[in-house]
Formats: sequence, structure tokens, C-alpha cells
Amino acid sequence: MPSVLIKTYGCQMNERDSEQVASMFRAAGYELTADEAEADVYLINTCSVREKAELKALGKMGQLCARPEAKPWTVYGFMGCMSQSLGEAIFREVPRVDLVAGTQQYHHVYEICNRLLRSRLGMHIDRPLRRGAHICTTATEEGFQNMVTEHLDDGGKCSAFVSIAQGCDMHCSYCIVPSTRGPEVSRPAADIVAEVRELVSRGIKEVTLLGQIVNRYGRQEGLVDGKGAFVRLLEALHDIEGLERLRYTSPHPIGFREDLVQAYTYLPKLCSHIHFPMQSGSDRILRAMYRPYKNETYLALCEALRAARPDLAITTDIIVGFPGETDEDFAATVAAVERVQFDNAFIFKYSPRRGTVAAGLPDQVPARIKEQRNHELLEVTNRIAVARNRALVGTQQVILVEGPSKSNPDRLQGRSSQNKPVIITEGQAEVGSLVPVQIRECTGFTLYGSV
Ligand code: SAH
Ligand code: SF4
Ligand code: F3S
Repeated sequence: MPSVLIKTYGCQMNERDSEQVASMFRAAGYELTADEAEADVYLINTCSVREKAELKALGKMGQLCARPEAKPWTVYGFMGCMSQSLGEAIFREVPRVDLVAGTQQYHHVYEICNRLLRSRLGMHIDRPLRRGAHICTTATEEGFQNMVTEHLDDGGKCSAFVSIAQGCDMHCSYCIVPSTRGPEVSRPAADIVAEVRELVSRGIKEVTLLGQIVNRYGRQEGLVDGKGAFVRLLEALHDIEGLERLRYTSPHPIGFREDLVQAYTYLPKLCSHIHFPMQSGSDRILRAMYRPYKNETYLALCEALRAARPDLAITTDIIVGFPGETDEDFAATVAAVERVQFDNAFIFKYSPRRGTVAAGLPDQVPARIKEQRNHELLEVTNRIAVARNRALVGTQQVILVEGPSKSNPDRLQGRSSQNKPVIITEGQAEVGSLVPVQIRECTGFTLYGSV
């Protein structure tokens, strides 16, 4: 049986796309492997959001292609955002690569790789073939119609990602995603409900809905009883018997209306966590980022959400060193962080991306200052994260048990409604079940407790 290894960089959307591709290989009889020495087909799903993510993927592929011990027939392919963005240029970076497939061509990946592999195996070749140089990066008008909606049936898995919208129409001045993922398209609600029902029938307890601006889902549809299409979708999914938890990522302050705030008061399956990118605490920088909201609007939304759901955990994304960011702008970001008290924050040093407005701005911030602000802000966010977790010691949290802990396979690990990893140090629990855990200890990231 031939085997395929898929390595994924980037966001949950990429994880979900990789899963779709994996399920096509699996359905055709391929084995999924994590062992580099074993794979006959090697695929890397790439991210372009920061330069580092691209360099990592290119470096990894270069290293794989250069392995003297590799099977001579191995097929190498890139998929995802960097493929879409760089296209043919990738063949010059890593000449051994056979396939470059863009973000709307996942449904072709299996077929091309399989054809290449079969022909090479049929030829009984004993040394590496020249690259196949296949490229498919055309964007399709149909968008989702070409998507496979298969999920891997991995038994024992209890949560799943479900794409509800693709692409992005926002064009934040720093961001490459609109050019790698195309315009925003929402899937029909009935298809999403059917997909989640199917997942639940296979034992899935938790789904995370994915979209670049997930709360803009179906925005052309207008309001019904004061509720937008996204909240109506949440309600429809909430009604599915056997589904225990509902999450979504990532929302944007634009289009975050009262109906979604209110949803936290009457949808108990909606988890007490929101990953809500703030990007900056300075209105001047937000404007330059083309993020059309004031920091005060963002803060007011966080406060309204916490009023609707008092135990809500809020995590965020922040960019430091955006062009023109002064010490004063940075201080405004620190002040906003102190005010919201985020449970966790991902801090990114601004990375200029090709084709974006911000990359051409004159006042690029020196690397040394980006580094310094990154370090300073991390100290603040880490201190707050530890304090937020300490406040949970002594409380009871219901966790969804996911499986053995990565750091210690003798212990089980799960996640709380607030999306915090919880390691069970005492007591029994079954994978896939929801159990109350008494929290005894914590770090800034993980909680420890007994059933
Ligand atoms: N669609 C999501 C974000 C997707 S990208 C949203 O708008 O909320 C994930 C995060 O990467 C962004 O929130 C942003 O903080 C960061 N990011 C995007 N482009 C970046 C760049 N050029 N440099 C540094 N960080 C960036
Ligand atoms: Fe990028 Fe902005 Fe779209 Fe998010 S909303 S994907 S940051 S352009
Ligand atoms: Fe990266 Fe593409 Fe996601 S650029 S963050 S993998 S949408």
C-alpha cells in the first residue's frame, strides 16, 4: 500500500484542507503516515501570512528532497497559500518539486500525485526522476463547489473543524490572505448542518466553525427576527442532538452585532471562549491597517461579551512594529491589553508581504524595535495569562477528554469550555466524554486537576 505524509503549516483552515486531501488519499487505499522515511508521496500545506512561515516550508521541502535515502519514486508537492501566491516561482526555489497546487485546487491533488506515483512505479525506476512540474493554481468561480467535505474517520477523535466560509474581502493593509484565498464565499446553511449531523453520528462532540471573518457568514441574507445568518446558523447547529460544544474562529469587530453577543446568554453549547483579534490598541495604527473600527469599539465588545457570559475567555492576535508605529501607539496597545486582560495573546512582529499596501509604506519599523516591543508585550500578556489561570485553581471545569497528554502519555488531556488544555492528574475518564475536573494547579497555559 503506498503511503502519503502531509505536513501542515498555518491556520486551522489549512488543517481542515489537509484533512480533506488526506481523506481522498485514504479513500483510494493510501496509508497516512507520519514517518518521513516511509512516505511515497510527500505534501506540504503552506502558509504565507508571515515571511517566516514560507521560509520554513521551503526549507523543509528542500531538506526532504535532498535526502539520499529517499525512495527514488517519491512525489513531492506543495499546496496551500504559498502555492497560490508564488505559483511557478516555487519550482525555481525547490527544483525537485513535482506539484504546486493552489487553495482552490485541493480536489486535484490526489489525482495528480497518484498518476505520477503510478507511472514512476510502473517504470521500475532506480534513480530520482526529473520533476513532474505540475501546477494548478487557477482560482475557481464556484469556490466551495469544488471542495470535498469528507472528514477523516479516525475513531477516538471527538472534535472537528468545519469550513463555513472561504476567502476574505477585507484587505487589511498588512495581509496577504485575500490574495491567497480569494473573495469571501459562504456555504449554504443546509450543507453545513448536514455535515455536522454526519460528524455527530460518528461520535464528534465538538465542532469549530471556520472562516476568515466567520461572523460575516451569509451577510447578504439580511436579518430575520433581528438575527443575522451567522447567529441563525449557530442556533440550527445548537439544536443537533449529541453535539455538545460549538466554537468558531475568527470573528472580526466589523459585523459583530448585538445578536451574536446575546447568543452567549441563551446558547449553552456555545463555548466560553472567543479568539478575537485586536491587532492594535492605537486608532491611528488601526486606520493605517484598514481595520475599520476604533479600539474603544473593540473594548466595548469585549466588555459586552463578558457581561453576557461572565466566564468568557478572550484570546487575541496583535501585530507589533506595523509601519509608523510609535512608542505612543505601542503604549496604547499595552494599555488595551491591560484593560481586556486576555487569557492568551498571539503576538506577531509585522512582516512585510508582497502585494500588500503596508509593505510599501515608508516608515518601516527597524527589526530591533519590533523585537523589543514583542518581548515587552509578551511579558505583559504572559503575566496576565498566569493570573487568569491562577484564578481558576480551586474551581471545577467541565472538560472534553481528547486523549493522552502529549508531554506524558500516561495522563489524559482535554480542554475546558474556555479552550484551556487541562491535564488529568488523578481519577478516571473516558476519551470523548465530558467530565468535571477540580483544578489544582496551573501554568500560564495549562491547567492540572482531578476528576
Ligand atoms: N482572518 C483573521 C486573521 C488571519 S491571519 C482575522 O482577520 O482575524 C492571522 C493573524 O496573523 C492575524 O490576526 C494577524 O495578527 C497576523 N498577521 C497577518 N498578516 C501579518 C503580517 N503581515 N505580519 C505579521 N502578522 C500578520
Ligand atoms: Fe487578513 Fe484582514 Fe482578511 Fe483577516 S480580515 S484575513 S487579517 S485581510
Ligand atoms: Fe496562512 Fe493561508 Fe491560513 S496564509 S494563516 S494558511 S489562510
